[in-house]
Amino acid sequence: MCGIVGYVGSREATPIVFEGLKRLEYRGYDSAGIAVIQDGQIAVRRDVGKLVRLGALLEAQPITGHIGIGHTRWATHGKPSPMNAHPHLDCTGQIVVIQNGIVENYRTLREELKTEGHHFASETDTEVIVHLIERYCHQGHDLTTSVRLALHHIEGAHAIVVLSSREPDKLIAARLGNAGGVTVGIGHDEMFVASDIPAILEHTRQIIHLDSREMAVVTAKGARFLDLSGRFLHKEAHTIPWDPVSAAKGEYRHFMQKEIYEQAEAIAHTISGRVDFEKGQVRLDELNLAPAEARRIEKIVIVACGTSAYAGLVGKFLIETLARIPVEVDYGSEFRYRDPLLDDRMAVLAITQSGETVDTLAAMEEARCKGARLWAIVNVIGSQAARLADGVIYMHAGPEIGVASTKAFTASLVDLYLLGLYLGQARGILPPEQMEGLLKALLALPKLAGEVLKNGKQCEELANLFFKYENFLYLGRGINYPIALEGALKLKEISYIHAEGYPAGEMKHGPIALIDERMPVVAIAVQDGVYEKMISQIEQVKARGGTVIAVATEGDEFIPTKADYVIRVPQTLPLLTPVLTVLPLQLFAYHMAVRRGADVDQPRNLAKSVTVE
Ligand code: AGP
Repeated sequence: MCGIVGYVGSREATPIVFEGLKRLEYRGYDSAGIAVIQDGQIAVRRDVGKLVRLGALLEAQPITGHIGIGHTRWATHGKPSPMNAHPHLDCTGQIVVIQNGIVENYRTLREELKTEGHHFASETDTEVIVHLIERYCHQGHDLTTSVRLALHHIEGAHAIVVLSSREPDKLIAARLGNAGGVTVGIGHDEMFVASDIPAILEHTRQIIHLDSREMAVVTAKGARFLDLSGRFLHKEAHTIPWDPVSAAKGEYRHFMQKEIYEQAEAIAHTISGRVDFEKGQVRLDELNLAPAEARRIEKIVIVACGTSAYAGLVGKFLIETLARIPVEVDYGSEFRYRDPLLDDRMAVLAITQSGETVDTLAAMEEARCKGARLWAIVNVIGSQAARLADGVIYMHAGPEIGVASTKAFTASLVDLYLLGLYLGQARGILPPEQMEGLLKALLALPKLAGEVLKNGKQCEELANLFFKYENFLYLGRGINYPIALEGALKLKEISYIHAEGYPAGEMKHGPIALIDERMPVVAIAVQDGVYEKMISQIEQVKARGGTVIAVATEGDEFIPTKADYVIRVPQTLPLLTPVLTVLPLQLFAYHMAVRRGADVDQPRNLAKSVTVE
């Protein structure tokens, strides 16, 4: 998610805003910028890349003034570039905006504003906001009213801060939905605005959070609050007990924990702007794939590593079911050594959160040499994989800091489901009534994920029972077999317990010899087409003295008669169950690692992005 900082007071704004942005670097970003009112005019400095580049720009071309805003951008619409970096100016250069979130209806607004004569300087969705504000200022409204009226036009979740040389004594901040927060910091004859508390914690611990559909008018003397109807609000300040580092995690103890709990919001972001409900269609514009080209694809090969490879195994089920295209999945580290049979009738799809995993990039190069079409499902915009691919589907999961991948995994699953729908609709094999049901189930996913994430206490209690065991077996079948692999990987990589994921049907061909009271078994046994088979696997484990933790469907009254412990997930389409069944396994692994005193965010021997072979 993007970082936002604002300042108004008697001190120089630039160093305060710049330092605030540095406190937000942990959030990940690909460009940054600052705007300050200098001698009555708005001065902007912005650049692609890390803050060190913006710092050099500010050294070379300093700006002075007592009111300013700054932004670190995690690109969603429009590649990382100086012109796409925030802040964004209106046509007159008298209004400037920074934003966190996605303007879902920006295409329509952009066209509307262009017909009114507005000129756009960037490819971003954000820029429509500043031109909307300009429209209302031009009609004679004051800045606060203009911002408020503009917000009525934009769809999606947003956090924005506006500055104008027309009214140079104030910042206007606003929050719509949950695209990251907006916090007002209270100083002595100075005030602050930030997306995250760490940016302003060195200046104040007195803060006021904006709730959704609220605005703040902030001057050096204080702040007034109002809702989008213009009604003034009374809001209580409260004191932050955190130190700056822990504040980056909010109320969470680890980044991994924060990212696990962010998944309901991250899944909503992944879906956002890609489903046209009136038409019952999926849009994946950045895939650069016309329906006619989609119809010519005869095979897809998914290449990835680690957790992303397990997402690929789920993707095989999704794409083969929804689009009836044969899918092969291979590890990035293996793919290029087997002289793969590829040609221009095939597509190679790389899945990579970082976009920098060297084995996956090498597989992409191999695919390119053999003439296959190249796609990437990637989280980091502007990363090597994103630049190498012919088309991309961004995860839009926001920066993932914890080494153990969680929200990027579920975002990948949602992207793969969207890809299956897109290819299926392009190939004419998903009739409207079927599409309607598939889209409806997708839309319900963020809420269902939120329900599962309420299971944290139960997973913590299970960890307290099992944290001393040194071996685990994870069993799954069908589309949940890859989730058994992923659950085992989560446990082993952060708690250092040996855990093995296995196709449940294979137990009788050897691994069942391992079962005894020292080898707990996690079995994914939701009510799908292989449920009965999973029940019989659980019975086989129990018959040999094993202990079973089952991940089961809400309302299944039979499973407690078979398993020792049951974690529930809501009913959904079988194709979407992996997005839900993985969540308790993430929480279980997290609490096991905490209970064992392991370094959850920086597990030994591991790196967030494996850029070496
Ligand atoms: C997952 O928890 C691990 N951190 C690791 O397996 C990771 O998924 C793998 O290295 C691939 O990374 P990528 O998605 O950035 O390519």
